[in-house]
Parts: sequence; structure tokens; C-alpha cells
Amino acid sequence: MNFRKICVLGLGYIGLPTAATFATHGLHVLGVDINPHVIETLRNGNIHIHEPGLRTVVESALSSGNLAISSEPEPADAFLIAVPTPFHEDQYGEYDGRKYRLADMRAVESATEAILPYLRKGNLVILESTSPPRTTVDLVRPILERSGLKAGVDFYLCYSPERVLPGQILRELIENARVVGGITPESAQAGCDLYATFVKGEIIETDATTAEMVKLMENTTRDINIAIANEFSRLAEKLGVDIWEAINLANRHPRIKILRPGPGVGGHCISVDPWFLVETAPELTPLIYHARQINDGQPLFVVEKVRQALGPLKEKRIAALGLAYKPDVDDLRESPATEVVQLLQKEGAVVRVWEPFKPDAKVKDIDMAPSLETALKDADAILLLVRHTQFINFHPEEIASKTKARILIDCVNSSSSEQWKTAGFDLFRLGVSKASKSAHR
Ligand SMILES: NC(=O)c1ccc[n+]([C@@H]2O[C@H](COP(=O)([O-])OP(=O)(O)OC[C@H]3O[C@@H](n4cnc5c(N)ncnc54)[C@H](O)[C@@H]3O)[C@@H](O)[C@H]2O)c1
Repeated sequence: MNFRKICVLGLGYIGLPTAATFATHGLHVLGVDINPHVIETLRNGNIHIHEPGLRTVVESALSSGNLAISSEPEPADAFLIAVPTPFHEDQYGEYDGRKYRLADMRAVESATEAILPYLRKGNLVILESTSPPRTTVDLVRPILERSGLKAGVDFYLCYSPERVLPGQILRELIENARVVGGITPESAQAGCDLYATFVKGEIIETDATTAEMVKLMENTTRDINIAIANEFSRLAEKLGVDIWEAINLANRHPRIKILRPGPGVGGHCISVDPWFLVETAPELTPLIYHARQINDGQPLFVVEKVRQALGPLKEKRIAALGLAYKPDVDDLRESPATEVVQLLQKEGAVVRVWEPFKPDAKVKDIDMAPSLETALKDADAILLLVRHTQFINFHPEEIASKTKARILIDCVNSSSSEQWKTAGFDLFRLGVSKASKSAHR
């Protein structure tokens, strides 16, 4: 199938790089978003998210005339939906005493409805948003069929999960293998034809529900693997074992790959997507549910660590470094670091946060410092919450010269424990009790 013009609905971390990459590979692309700030920023030639290399690709797509930005779709050969699929903030399901989160699919519904007036015979519609199993057939298809056209007969319909890594999106978009699930084999073929515009990785055809399940299984597996690392970190503290040393040794086994413990699991994907499987069949998913509970409980474990270091938290001044949900990104969504800060504040601590990737972020009730120096000034302790490259490259002596704090609580195993100690810091590391042998090395 040949494509000349496509519409991409949702111009965020996924939709914008996708739209710009299609445009730089010769397609006419209309990028659609409902957020006026996004539209205005892009129309002015700027970008509203931090992603290495994205500015250049967007600039080149806009200046070639192949990428246009609008708040409304237009007729096109294909429509791609990349809108958010968070969980509801205030709605829960319950099964056997287990309270679980519910997917908020309103953005997918309204984006699909926005396509309706423009849907024509022979079009292709692809859902890329991470979604509960059967969303494509049970939610998207009936909405599109209100047009009077029949999915799989009059138009093609696919689900294709996005698996890019923030920070590497532009490269991975092109190089990663891509799964394309069609509601019919012809739909899958049409989806493959579209992605072949720029994808160099393998493009694999399947059905839509399998493709939805693939994405959810990937992220759920990571969540469970992080949960076991976090559980090990709690055990290690109880047993006087240094978790970082223990993981390092266990990972010498050729078939073992334990992930890193940390202050929790965040972001738009891994902390959200497993709930879509729990919601689908709570009676079949106790392991997934409990992994979520462990990872969601990790910020409380960090607060305990801070209490061990500082004693009662009331009026203690803490410089919290990092608020993003993972290293070297500006994405604060569902970040466990935010939760740690809020929990500390509830206990009466006075927390100033330095997030180098988003210093001017407005986060409810959180005091963002305009610079590292401001965060460190007057602090009683430094709390390292994200493994940003900038933080692991800190020179402890230099940090010591900027603050009177001599306590470092390290939740991410920043690389230079000995140097911190030499610079006069008392070190508290997640997964390492003060009594562990390595603390006395
Ligand atoms: N960010 C990632 O790393 C990543 C990776 C894989 C999959 N995903 C999935 O991709 C989807 C999009 O994620 P994202 O990170 O790009 O989200 P995002 O929040 O960065 O961007 C989504 C954009 O969609 C816009 N939008 C909302 N409703 C709309 C509508 N009805 N019509 C048009 N635009 C609308 C928003 O204004 C926003 O700009 C989600 O389902 C997410 O789970 C994300």
C-alpha cells in the first residue's frame, strides 16, 4: 500500500518523534494535538519536550514543509494515535481485598472520535498508545465503525506498540524491531507497509490483541524484575549485606541478570502498564499485583532510610537531587522521587529539590531550587534520588565546599562511596545497612 499523507494524533514523547521521522522520510504529515501550548510551541519552531536530537529532526521536518501542526485532523491515507493512557487518579477496581488501578482510556476514545469525520475507504488506522488487551477490537473498532465503514473490509485497523527508550527515541524508532498487529492479515500488511517508510529493524505481523499483550508483557516483566531487586535490597539491609556487591556477584552467573533497586518505579509506562493486565483479569494476576505493591512501597522504604540518617525529620533541611523518574530524562510523570519528597514533607522535613533536566518544573507543593547551589545551601543532608550522569560525576570535595551538609543518603549507588567518605560525608546507601561489612571497609 502507498501512503502520501498521514495524520499523527498526540504530539508527545512518542507522537512528535514519530511524526517528524515520517516527515523527514518523505511523507506529508499533519501532527495533531489538543494542547494549545504544544501547537503554539511547535508552530514557533520550538519543541516542548527534552529528547536528544529531536529539535534538529523537528526543525528539518517543519522547514521541508512535510510536517504541519494543527488542532484538528484532516483527510489522510493513515491515522496514527499516540495519546496518553494513564490510570484513573480516583477510580479503582477491587478483587479479593486487592485494590487495583483502572486504565483511563478517554484520550484514546476522543482521538478516535476525532478521526471519524475524516475516515475514508482504504484508510489505515493504527493505535500506538499502550492499551489494555482488546482495546483495538472492543473500543477503537466500534467507534470507527460509526462512520458506516467496516473495519478490516473498508478500512485497515492495527495496533502497534511503541518500545523506544526515552533518551534514545530517534535511533530506536528506526532500529528497533516493530510488532504490527492487524485485525485482519491485510490490516497488518498495510501497517507494515507504512512503518517500512523508515523502520530498519524487523517488522513482524501478528493480530491486534497479541500485539497489545506483547507490549504489556514487556513492561510487566521489567516491573516484576525491579520489584525483586527492591525486595532483595530490603532483605540485604536486614541481613547486613551490601546489595550492590551481592547483585554484582549474582550477575556473574551466566543466566542471571538482577536489575538495580532504587526509590521505586515511575514514568508513564512501567508503573502504569502492569495495571492494565491486572484490570483485565485480577483473579489471574496476583504476582503482577504484588510486584506493583512492592515498587509502590519503595518510597516509604527510602523515607525510613532518611530517618535512620537524620533521626526525627521535623524541620530537617534536605537537598533532594533528582525528580525525574529515571536518569537523564526530564520526564517527571509518576516519579517515585516526587513521592519520596512529598512523604518527607509530610513528616515535617524542609525539602528543596534540584532537577537539572527541569529546574523550572511546577510540581504541587514541591520547592524547586533554581540551581544545585541553592538546593545545597543550608541543607542538613543530601538525598540522591536519580542516577543522572551529572550526579554520578560529582566531585565530592566540590560538593562539600558548597554545603554544610555532611550526610549523603544515596538511593542509586552513585559510583564513588570512598570519595564521599574522604570528603567527610557520612554515607547511607539504599540496600546497605550501617552494620554491613562493606560499610566498615
Ligand atoms: N513515553 C514513552 O517512553 C512511551 C514508550 C512507549 C509507549 N508509550 C505510550 O505512548 C502513548 C503516548 O505517550 P507519550 O509519552 O507520548 O504521552 P505524552 O503525554 O508525552 O503525549 C501525548 C500527547 O497527546 C496529546 N493528546 C491528548 N489527547 C489527545 C487527543 N484526543 N487528540 C490529540 N492529541 C491528544 C497531549 O496533549 C500530549 O501532547 C501512551 O499510551 C504511552 O503509554 C510511551
